Amino acid sequence: MEDIDPLRDDILREVREAGSPEVLEAIRVSALGRRGRLTLLMRGLGELGPEARRVAGAALNAAKDEIAASLAEASDRLHRAALANRLAGERADVTLPVLPGPPSGCDTGRIHPISQTIDEIIAIFGEMGFVVAEGPHIEDDFYNFTALNIPPDHPARQEHDTFYLPPRVDGSRLVLRTHTSPVQIRTMLAQPPPLRIIVPGRTFRADHDSTHSPMFHQVEGLVIDRTTHMGHLKGCLIEFCRAFFDVEDLPVRFRPSYFPFTEPSAEVDIGCSRAGGELKIGHGGANGPQDWLEILGSGMVHPQVLRNCGIDPAEYQGFAFGMGIERVAMLKYGIPDLRTFYDSDLRWLRHYGFLPLDIPSPVRGALSGGAAA
Ligand code: DAH
Repeated sequence: MEDIDPLRDDILREVREAGSPEVLEAIRVSALGRRGRLTLLMRGLGELGPEARRVAGAALNAAKDEIAASLAEASDRLHRAALANRLAGERADVTLPVLPGPPSGCDTGRIHPISQTIDEIIAIFGEMGFVVAEGPHIEDDFYNFTALNIPPDHPARQEHDTFYLPPRVDGSRLVLRTHTSPVQIRTMLAQPPPLRIIVPGRTFRADHDSTHSPMFHQVEGLVIDRTTHMGHLKGCLIEFCRAFFDVEDLPVRFRPSYFPFTEPSAEVDIGCSRAGGELKIGHGGANGPQDWLEILGSGMVHPQVLRNCGIDPAEYQGFAFGMGIERVAMLKYGIPDLRTFYDSDLRWLRHYGFLPLDIPSPVRGALSGGAAA
């Protein structure tokens, strides 16, 4: 029988040079297939004498094993290359900005005014160094009430129209959080001061009429530091109101109030006029008599609340505030009815919603206002 080394070397070279799984398969068939070059030689073994058959058979088997191994290795390599190629072709750069205009659908989709308003509020407080914190919608009584200095017999509990979950084995009941204030507690327990957080989120109260919804949104703020005082509270909130409503000389008024978790407490009003039956945010002045709209609750964090969170009130103090998001969105964008926020009415959303690229930024000044008409 002829020397099989040159044939084996030829086949191994072809395998090494194969550029695709298809070419490789063709080489395999031409070498080891039913009518392959090596297969035919194997068949020829029967014509040899016993000694020659033994020698040639061993050589053929060794060549066959070597070729099979080289085919397997090449197949693996080519398949991996093909996969890498395909993945590279299918790669999508998710960081690319969306295209304005018809192909991407950006001309039809709208950002809900609640989402837009939350983004605007975050942008303003973000500039002041606040970071966003979040907490669960289902709360423990401790975080929603007790730690906020609202013990079980406190009258403020009745005012909250709380949604209770069925009692647990130990008789305690979880609640749907009635305000975003429990996130103050969660944050103070989790992180050491100084703290500067803003907490936008859903809140729940068993109340439903034209000005109340059982689910609504609030944003909470909390600042804890060694030297933070009422002046910081006032400066921060005046700055916020003027930036949010985009009225540089917006009158802002602090009225003494009461909240169990702050002392002293103040409600914050912004100036407006109702001359001619039209509500206008800003100075009354020339437009008519000065009127006021309440938009925020605030105060210096109560020492007992700090103690409940393991913070020494002799060392740290701070301020907190809470605001209804629907309310300020309605005022800023002239949305007359609270219930329409949750109607999922596309015509409403097209009218009051925002273009996806209308991203709030304090750098652009006015936080780019105006509902898309
Ligand atoms: N949690 C209050 C509410 O839902 C709002 C509030 C008032 C939050 C004063 C505060 C605050 O952090 O200081 O009515």
